[in-house]
Amino acid sequence: MISGVKLGLGLVGAVGATLLGIAMLSQFQAPSLEIVQRGYRGTAMQVNYNEKQLASYLAENKVPASLPQAPAAGPKAGAVYKNVQVLGDLSVGQFTRLMVSITSWVSPKQGCAYCHNTANMAEDSLYTKIVSRRMFQMTQHINADWQPHVQGTGVTCYTCHRGNPVPNNIWFNDPGPRSPSGGMISAGASTGQNLAAASTRYASLPYDPFTPFLEGDHSIRVQGDEALPGSNRHSIKEAEWTFSLMNYFGNSLGVNCTYCHNSRAFSDWSQSTPAKVTAWHGIQMTRDLNGDYLKQLANAWPVNRLGPTGDSPKLACATCHQGVYKPLYGVSMLKDFPELARPGAAGLAYLNASWTPASPMDQEKVGEQGKPSN
Ligand code: HEC
Ligand code: HEC
Ligand code: HEC
Ligand code: HEC
Repeated sequence: MISGVKLGLGLVGAVGATLLGIAMLSQFQAPSLEIVQRGYRGTAMQVNYNEKQLASYLAENKVPASLPQAPAAGPKAGAVYKNVQVLGDLSVGQFTRLMVSITSWVSPKQGCAYCHNTANMAEDSLYTKIVSRRMFQMTQHINADWQPHVQGTGVTCYTCHRGNPVPNNIWFNDPGPRSPSGGMISAGASTGQNLAAASTRYASLPYDPFTPFLEGDHSIRVQGDEALPGSNRHSIKEAEWTFSLMNYFGNSLGVNCTYCHNSRAFSDWSQSTPAKVTAWHGIQMTRDLNGDYLKQLANAWPVNRLGPTGDSPKLACATCHQGVYKPLYGVSMLKDFPELARPGAAGLAYLNASWTPASPMDQEKVGEQGKPSN
């Protein structure tokens, strides 16, 4: 009798668990794929897009409307205002249009006061104004001097900022995962394989593909062109590091490897797509921007903006691309803001500018450690 009850209960339990399992399984759906052929038939050069993800990327990458152009005639900003070092040759109307536009791109919630002491607009008391002046120069430099990558499409502040003072997808030098006792995990040896790291989207790959390749100029190429190891001294560890970077490229652009490579011969440029060449220019550009702009601002940022090793925030492919093969699907905002593309705009005058916290608000931001020393 007792064993009969037990058996009955057991059966009910088993049936329940099975039903629950079926119910849970029906929650999972195979993604519906859109497959785009990018090479000759039979070369397996196809890019797979997840349609659901595509829809959300489309929604996130809408371009905001531009303000109507202002007349170029009239007195120049450089003559009217007291402390205009980069944009002095714009008319006052053009200058004001640009200030209003950058506010909507970078600090729509905070307004002009994010960069200005509104009692004295000429004052350089906020670090955000110092950083922005350099950002103007950086944007002009990208558009004027990096056309092999950005073409005529170019970038504006919005490409990276999207309404946020601190863009998404920035990175810092990563001192590496720590063991529970606080020490480094096999320092220098593992590069973090077999450890979950958000930077690799939890792939078992080296956790920092940025510092060696997109700040430094460590060689990305690892494949040998001879049958036996001779002149090629690259190791499996270095190959994994390259793979980690390549994985990041794919995630940044929302594509797979064959968007750039013919996977039968990763190193052969003649079998690759033109996108690989564009990407190569993108690598050189990213190193240039990190080295000549972001890193050199290290003295301007308050300490709470710096990374765990005291380094500047830096950018990479995803800072502009944000999951899409061309940022904002290739729609150019630059054509409405030609003042953001100037050759030779990359003056380094700001380098001597130092920032000392002026207001109590800044003091609080910087905390007790004071101005970062470098
Ligand atoms: C994201 C930062 C930022 C925001 C937001 C911003 N500005 Fe500016 N502003 C600057 C920078 C940088 C300069 C200096 C440009 C230069 O040196 O060429 C400047 C300069 C100025 C000047 C010239 C002051 C002088 O006498 O030298 C005026 C006026 C001005 N901004 C108005 C505004 C107004 C109005 C707003 C809000 C609608 C605004 N700004 C929002 C960064 C900003
Ligand atoms: C290529 C990408 C890119 C472009 C284009 C760009 N920025 Fe930035 N910006 C960054 C990165 C990366 C940072 C560092 C993030 C941080 O400050 O923590 C930054 C930081 C800033 C900050 C400081 C935010 C803070 O509170 O720390 C301001 C202000 C700013 N940018 C304004 C601008 C303006 C104005 C433009 C257009 C003239 C512009 N940016 C164009 C990438 C970009
Ligand atoms: C957006 C374009 C792009 C994507 C996507 C991409 N790669 Fe690359 N890959 C490159 C470029 C550019 C280089 C060459 C870098 C250089 O020469 O400095 C490269 C180099 C390589 C190399 C080294 C080849 C050599 O010469 O030794 C390998 C291996 C590689 N990629 C594998 C992959 C794999 C695997 C994927 C997918 C996870 C991938 N790539 C995705 C652009 C891309
Ligand atoms: C400063 C912003 C910015 C950064 C950083 C950036 N890109 Fe781009 N990239 C662009 C713009 C803008 C275009 C569109 C150019 C055009 O219209 O053809 C583009 C286009 C491309 C294309 C061509 C796509 C196609 O189908 O023709 C590839 C590939 C690419 N980027 C890869 C990269 C990689 C890889 C990195 C990082 C190493 C990178 N980009 C970093 C702005 C950027």
